[in-house]
Amino acid sequence: MAKQKREAHLATTSVHGGHEDRVSGAPVVPPIVQSSTFHWATPDDGELLYSRFGNNPNQLLVGAKVAAIEGTEAGVALGSGMAAVAMTLLALTKAGDHIVAASGLYGATHALLGQELPRRGIATTFVDPDMGEWEKALLPETRLLYIEIPVNPTLRIIDPRPIIAMAKEKGIHVVCDATFSSPVNFRAANVGIDVVVQSATKYLGGHSDLIAGVVTGPSEVIEEVTKMSRLYGPSLDPHAAWLLDRGIKTLDVRLKRHNENAMAVARFFESRSEVERVLYPGLESHPDHELAQEIMNGFGGMVSIVLKGGGEAADDFMEHLKLGMCAPSLGGVETLVSQPRYTSHAGLTPDLRRAQGIPDGFVRLSIGIEAAEDLIADFEQALSG
Ligand SMILES: Cc1ncc(COP(=O)(O)O)c(C=O)c1O
Repeated sequence: MAKQKREAHLATTSVHGGHEDRVSGAPVVPPIVQSSTFHWATPDDGELLYSRFGNNPNQLLVGAKVAAIEGTEAGVALGSGMAAVAMTLLALTKAGDHIVAASGLYGATHALLGQELPRRGIATTFVDPDMGEWEKALLPETRLLYIEIPVNPTLRIIDPRPIIAMAKEKGIHVVCDATFSSPVNFRAANVGIDVVVQSATKYLGGHSDLIAGVVTGPSEVIEEVTKMSRLYGPSLDPHAAWLLDRGIKTLDVRLKRHNENAMAVARFFESRSEVERVLYPGLESHPDHELAQEIMNGFGGMVSIVLKGGGEAADDFMEHLKLGMCAPSLGGVETLVSQPRYTSHAGLTPDLRRAQGIPDGFVRLSIGIEAAEDLIADFEQALSG
């Protein structure tokens, strides 16, 4: 009987994926190749290695590593999460095409789809994932469906399966931004999502010390994304790529701790009278708890709360924090706390924010890997003011 190739666990590919040089004397940690260009042994060598082209060794390694983790054919690492989103959308569409996207998206992605791409003849219809509007929004010229799992900052989980079925029938792509879940908690390829974009600035990097993005999917899509990146130029600097590779090695252990801590913190907030609502997919009270149990491998490190005292109480809570740091972004080892009304959703009116489930008093917490009891003690004293 033919021996089936055994697929390595994510914890293993996170450490070894992309590191292929097992020759004698090879360094265990690949060096940083901080070079923009590469020598030709003959005047017409022909192999054009140039770091903007995406073929710097550090950039190649990290793209291959994330593809191995995601279980997709190929991957490319770029200079930011937004570069990953933008190059993917440009690679998969042309003037006259149409995109259907979930309405709850990261602010810059929403602006790209709603304002920037229309200037280039690519239109987007935003749909409320709860209302089964996807099918109605499809046009003959629809080229891709775009979702985020989970949605920022309400942490709702969209069921991707009916969306994927629709896309398959039409022969178009589903692109999923899985930044908030990370491949540890959600392996998009397992449910049939073909293209995944991530801000590697967050959980993949994990240490709040770099800006990067990754796109993974079928080889022909990654080739097109790479072509776009060569033209528009958001390549990943070799040093940032090296840091990203180092960060990814601990992805599995970090995420397990993020998940555990976030669950403990969510339960703590649930027990507090100052808190009107706790949004965490791991809680039975979360509207998508069952779906999350079904399609996710972990509930994540993000917890959102709504304080009864509104904006004033939220300001007060943040001012009293001693351990949690007040900063946007997420996915680092340190706990970061922010209010969407000052950051990602600052551009919306209070009424519009409320309609999206983000009233004043909404606080988003990216729970780090500190000891849960220390975090809870900090939140307790900050709530007591
Ligand atoms: C869900 C999501 N996608 C994409 C991005 C963009 O990532 P970057 O800041 O690395 O460009 C972010 C940034 O916060 C994000 O939260």
